[in-house]
Amino acid sequence: MGEVADFFRDKTLFVVGSTGFLGKVLIERILWQVPQVRRIVLLMRPHSAEDQETAVRLRAERAIFSCPIFKRLHARHGERFDGFVREKVKIVAGDLSCPDLGLDSHSLQVLGSEVDFIINLAASLHFHERLDLAVRLNTLGPRHLLNFAKRFPNPTLLHVSTCYVSGRRAGSIPEQVLEPDVSAFDLMGITSNERFRTESEIEKALEVAQSVESESRTPAARSEYRHAALAHLPSTRIADGHDRAAERKRQRWVHDVLSQEGLSRARRFGWVDTYTFTKALGEQLLVKSSDGVPIIILRPSAVESSLYQPEPGWIEGYKTTTPVTYGYGKGDLPDFPSRGEGVIDIIPVDFVASALLACLTTPPEGRNPRVFQVGSGSENPIRWNELMEYTEKYFREFPLQNGSGPIVLQPMKYRSAEEFDTWVGDRRRRLRIAHSLCDQLDFWPGAARLSQKVAVRQRHFKRLEYIARLYAGYTRLVCSFETNNTRRLFRSLQRQDQLDFFFDPTAIEWPTYIRQIQLPGVRRHVMTKAGDVS
Ligand SMILES: NC(=O)c1ccc[n+]([C@@H]2O[C@H](COP(=O)([O-])OP(=O)(O)OC[C@H]3O[C@@H](n4cnc5c(N)ncnc54)[C@H](OP(=O)(O)O)[C@@H]3O)[C@@H](O)[C@H]2O)c1
Repeated sequence: MGEVADFFRDKTLFVVGSTGFLGKVLIERILWQVPQVRRIVLLMRPHSAEDQETAVRLRAERAIFSCPIFKRLHARHGERFDGFVREKVKIVAGDLSCPDLGLDSHSLQVLGSEVDFIINLAASLHFHERLDLAVRLNTLGPRHLLNFAKRFPNPTLLHVSTCYVSGRRAGSIPEQVLEPDVSAFDLMGITSNERFRTESEIEKALEVAQSVESESRTPAARSEYRHAALAHLPSTRIADGHDRAAERKRQRWVHDVLSQEGLSRARRFGWVDTYTFTKALGEQLLVKSSDGVPIIILRPSAVESSLYQPEPGWIEGYKTTTPVTYGYGKGDLPDFPSRGEGVIDIIPVDFVASALLACLTTPPEGRNPRVFQVGSGSENPIRWNELMEYTEKYFREFPLQNGSGPIVLQPMKYRSAEEFDTWVGDRRRRLRIAHSLCDQLDFWPGAARLSQKVAVRQRHFKRLEYIARLYAGYTRLVCSFETNNTRRLFRSLQRQDQLDFFFDPTAIEWPTYIRQIQLPGVRRHVMTKAGDVS
């Protein structure tokens, strides 16, 4: 047995965020490679009306242990699989965005007395999340875990953040903590009239949410939503139906105002979006309030399909580069608002899980958290135009289908922001003309179906435009994430541990990874699930 596996003998790990993409891979890896752990405790939201204990147990069975990546563990344990999981895994109902994690004091005490490592993977990764929700989870969540850790003598807290907390900074991004009260613009030397303060930003976010919520509940606002609901649902006789529709409109309005507020606060201080802004605030709070608790901050770049473990190509969710590569493969996104020369920093999910387990074996000394950035860009970069070139080759070989057969692709066109605006305007205009033609053809029996199709295309196009602009923001970043700590960590491992917990990005051959692993993985695990491609 290697040193890493041996290190975890009889240790208890408390994991928050186990139902997510990275979480499942991590739990599988622990049970597969370090089954000698004493226990893994998972904090999970119940998500259903059963009693909480039953609800989280059922969620874990469905969301985690029935997942295809547990295949090799099923094969190893056969009929004993359920017993093995019951012996090793304990599930508690809770919520990271609540103080004390939503646990009563007895559960907190029992849990804290047995935990050696606290691992936080939970987050909202929506780039444009409602500001208050993102702050409660991405910023205050880690501090709730820190407060939990402070009550007990032992635990080390490992918080998974993201390399992109560096915001719009250019150049080499060090593996260092983000000092509190320092904005991304401060680090770039850009002066601003407004002083950035971590804690007052958090207060402002929660205050603005409260005032927007109150504004949406005034009698005048309520009557406006009700009128709008009546206008949309004139035939609904049941008053309840109108009330519910009015409430949905109110919630939509609150959501839109607060997600816009998130973006504008983020951009005012040099971050790209609400996700990275609130993750940065979360790191700053940890640094500010650590009080000697050993903290590790692990920052992955963009996490993609596994390269080796538990199987090549495992991926979950329509995120990271998938909306762009598959948008292109479907022929919907032939143009991209970026020059394409920027590096897209991606890293396979199994590398992140391996690095996470390896860095727990070297807990930080001293007061400052240790930071590990896990990415590929500084040692083995791949550019957007290379990613899209391999993507094009893949889809030429294995084209997606539409109603009339295989989709034929043109090479992606990289446009300036202005050119892209013109292209978008043109596409929008054509769809509008098609829509009004359908209206004029209302004497023709097929007109209604055609009009519906055009409306779907319009919605679809709006979404693609949103995706292109969103991702273009990241492609324009000209930074490189230093990975010296992570590289040193890998080199310090024994030879066998390096093989078992592999995370050296120089080993990735991009054309092979993209064409034979990443894109087929998305097709197998994401697109077919969504019933989206043949
Ligand atoms: N994926 C990437 O490309 C990427 C890149 C860099 C960094 N990261 C970081 O890596 C971590 C994991 O990312 P991921 O891709 O695995 O995300 P994910 O698939 O979206 O999973 C998020 C997890 O957070 C949990 N969660 C959300 N709200 C919660 C709450 N209030 N209390 C407890 N748990 C809650 C979710 O549980 P439910 O099932 O209950 O919703 C889910 O398990 C995140 O911290 C993210 O910032 C990810």
